[in-house]
Amino acid sequence: MKVAVLGYGTVGVGVYEMLCAAEGLEAGPVLVRPGKADTAFKVTEIQAIVADPTVDAVAEVMGGVEPAFSYAMAAIEAGKHFVTSNKALVAAKGVELNRAARAKGVAFLFSAACGGAIPFLHNLARAAETDTVLSCGGILNGTTNFMLDQMQGTGKDYADALKEAQALGYAEADPTADVTGLDALRKIMLACAAAWGVLPQEGLLNEGIDSLSAADVKDFMSRGLVCRLLASGRRAEDGRISAYVEPVLVGAGDAETAVLKNFNMARYVGQNSGSIAMIGQGAGRYPTASAVLRDLSGIAQGESAMFPAGCTYGAADNSAESHAYYVRLPKSCEDRLPVSEVLAECGDSVTVLTEPMSVSCMHTLAGEIRKNGNSLFFAAIRR
Ligand code: HSE
Repeated sequence: MKVAVLGYGTVGVGVYEMLCAAEGLEAGPVLVRPGKADTAFKVTEIQAIVADPTVDAVAEVMGGVEPAFSYAMAAIEAGKHFVTSNKALVAAKGVELNRAARAKGVAFLFSAACGGAIPFLHNLARAAETDTVLSCGGILNGTTNFMLDQMQGTGKDYADALKEAQALGYAEADPTADVTGLDALRKIMLACAAAWGVLPQEGLLNEGIDSLSAADVKDFMSRGLVCRLLASGRRAEDGRISAYVEPVLVGAGDAETAVLKNFNMARYVGQNSGSIAMIGQGAGRYPTASAVLRDLSGIAQGESAMFPAGCTYGAADNSAESHAYYVRLPKSCEDRLPVSEVLAECGDSVTVLTEPMSVSCMHTLAGEIRKNGNSLFFAAIRR
């Protein structure tokens, strides 16, 4: 199978190198930006790939929704299998791509878009065919896990930890999506669609680690807790789907505590299988490229889809999910929360534990309190 590659950045170089070395796969042309075609295998026009009858599959690793979506549809329309690592693309346009690929009888796979090297979506999609998936989620962003590990393990400050994650190729070109939880949110959107055939695009909530201070780290670590950025998806018995991302404080006995560096831990709970957790590198050139290659190899074995036929867009509802929260906020705003215990006071700010409260209520309150320029950090407490 001859594979064209769209994009020649961190992941694109890894995919091309791995294709050159893989058995049963052949490296085709690589689409690069105008003016960057400095070697024979690089082209600058998508038509050179779409119209090439010797190209069987297209692997897109450019990122972004456009022009990736137009290129994907053109490739699928031309009868080529389509594999991508691009979670922004699949989160925004996954239903159309799933429909188009199925109509054309080609594969649409995107394992690398959620969990890096971990074969999470592949297994989740297969589980959804034979079991009832109750929930899914975990640590789905390598950049923030790396940063949290550095800040908590070595005392590095936020800016240095981010700089190192960027230098190692874990972070997105613009790391805002990583640190605000948007990247992990896009990944849990894909997992929800693989598990339940609904790609939620409304009602989603994401809180990242961009409000975390060195003093917060010192405080919760003195209480025997560590912070992980967790994505969560769940389908309630009434069919409502929750999907959100937020920092969670976990203890020494929790599995997430042992997930270090850029590693991810992706998990699902099946009614019959029980809890399944997979740990692996969630970001970086070769871990991500390995997932792209695995999808391409899967096509040769007959794998063709990760979303079920009839997958639709939908809305998440996070009002029935509830946790107690650890919150650092201005003293003047303390009475807006259902406080169960005051943990510490420092100048104008106070750190509290709340009674269990809904995820939607905590995220909404945080947004309102910050509107006035107030600083606030919150994390759910795993009890
Ligand atoms: N920036 C992403 C992460 C890359 O850090 O997880 C892999 O999706």
